[in-house]
Amino acid sequence: MSRIIALSGSLRRHSYNSGLLRAARQLMPDGVALEIGTIADVPLYNGDIEEEEGIPAAVTRLKDAIADADGLLLSTPEYNNSIPGVFKNAIDWISRPPADSARVFRGKRVAIIGASPGGFGTVLAQNAWLPVLRTLGVELWNGRRLMVSEAGQIFDAEGNLVNESIRNHLKAFLEEFAAVLGE
Ligand code: FNR
Repeated sequence: MSRIIALSGSLRRHSYNSGLLRAARQLMPDGVALEIGTIADVPLYNGDIEEEEGIPAAVTRLKDAIADADGLLLSTPEYNNSIPGVFKNAIDWISRPPADSARVFRGKRVAIIGASPGGFGTVLAQNAWLPVLRTLGVELWNGRRLMVSEAGQIFDAEGNLVNESIRNHLKAFLEEFAAVLGE
């Protein structure tokens, strides 16, 4: 059984990006489990806290979940054509301390998806992740791209995916990403 840990970069209750991951969990191929983690309990990064108190428990949980998983799926919103601060903050914490970063990220298969109400579906946010992921030494999976635009028509008011075509794209994306996890 392969395992994917998935993180949404939104804290919003009815987030499209969180909804995309809930749909993904339902659409996983046989033999692959998708667990959705949360960045909601990750504090703002502060080097003083790290030095005086160590890594916060919520961050340690995420580090271990990623280290134990075969793949990491990021569903990123786009803010001002880039990565939302809360999401970057969480990954920054997860990359600490540097001596433990390789255990968590190096060679990890990572895929990025995203949803936004605009017409470009997080293309710039997804691109903004590239130098971060390169720095972390992950193995980025580029087999497919999924940028969900016009999200207001693709999700219902609770952020549940209700569009059949996007559901099919997501399913194909997951099948192909899952296929490389066993390699
Ligand atoms: C946005 N939004 C947005 N959308 C987009 O496609 N490109 C952008 O550059 C921005 N910029 C932006 C900045 C800020 C500060 C906010 C709060 C929002 C809109 C954004 O895509 C929308 O709020 C989504 O609903 C966020 O994703 P979740 O929370 O639904 O997952």
